[in-house]
Amino acid sequence: MSLNGKTFIVTGATSGIGQATARELAQRGGKVFITARSEEKARPVLDELGGDADYLQLELGDLDSVRQCAKDFVARDEPLHGLINNAGLAGQRGITDSGFELAFGTNHVGHFLFTNLLLDKLKESAPARIVNVSSQSHYDAKGIDYTAVRKPTKSITGMPEYAVSKLANVVHAQELARRLDGTGVTAYSLHPGVIASNVWRRVPWPFDALMKLFMKSNEEGARTSVYCATSPDVANDSGKYYDNRKEKEPNKVATPELGAELWAKSEEWTAS
Ligand SMILES: NC(=O)c1ccc[n+]([C@@H]2O[C@H](COP(=O)([O-])OP(=O)(O)OC[C@H]3O[C@@H](n4cnc5c(N)ncnc54)[C@H](OP(=O)(O)O)[C@@H]3O)[C@@H](O)[C@H]2O)c1
Repeated sequence: MSLNGKTFIVTGATSGIGQATARELAQRGGKVFITARSEEKARPVLDELGGDADYLQLELGDLDSVRQCAKDFVARDEPLHGLINNAGLAGQRGITDSGFELAFGTNHVGHFLFTNLLLDKLKESAPARIVNVSSQSHYDAKGIDYTAVRKPTKSITGMPEYAVSKLANVVHAQELARRLDGTGVTAYSLHPGVIASNVWRRVPWPFDALMKLFMKSNEEGARTSVYCATSPDVANDSGKYYDNRKEKEPNKVATPELGAELWAKSEEWTAS
């Protein structure tokens, strides 16, 4: 299916699944804005994508950067048919510049604000879609501890916190679907597969090389994102979670109550 005349933003497209997603959308004729933390990182990807691609600077851990990035995009006076909230980190520890647990602040809070600031643009451009790249790790989370997510990462591995951030991605998409019902803007979340991207950069050699033998390629990792962003098959399936281009039941703790609660908290945290 041609994507001529369609405009997309892919966050975190300097490597891995995001880069492969941007490539696939551009190859099919879409205009793609990639986000990157610096122009230096964006440049090789832009060169590969060709003429109709552009770059937006975005550091998701800094809410001022998120606000500026959304403002920069709106100033371009472009439509927005697909927002792919792909950027993310796993297995790292710390706190974001804006004071959130590192994985939660980057993977959820930054994307929550970015999406909200682009909602009018998405509604104006409808039909339009929001795609949150979550993970099967979200099944490991038992809920969201709103006090813990305002503190530095507690675990040694950072993986329990990553699971919570990925649960937030699922719940955010579900709540967006409820709030955007009737607007022509639909929302999805997904697991991309276990992919040999740079997300494993903290795993030491030779374990990283061994693990990657059993993983799928970045191109395979992009498939479900592209499917959710473009396929007519899911045009009316707002709020659903996908794995390998198939709908799947998400974690049972992803309830409408959690969605409303997370939305209220996230709004409070990101109010300027
Ligand atoms: N790989 C897997 O097996 C797997 C499995 C399940 C889910 N996922 C999800 O897939 C998504 C893409 O990950 P990937 O595997 O492709 O990893 P990756 O190769 O490490 O790519 C992650 C991207 O996110 C960007 N990013 C990280 N922190 C950021 C921040 N604070 N602000 C802005 N951008 C930031 C990175 O930019 P820099 O280059 O500047 O760091 C990079 O472009 C993530 O959401 C991840 O949770 C991956």
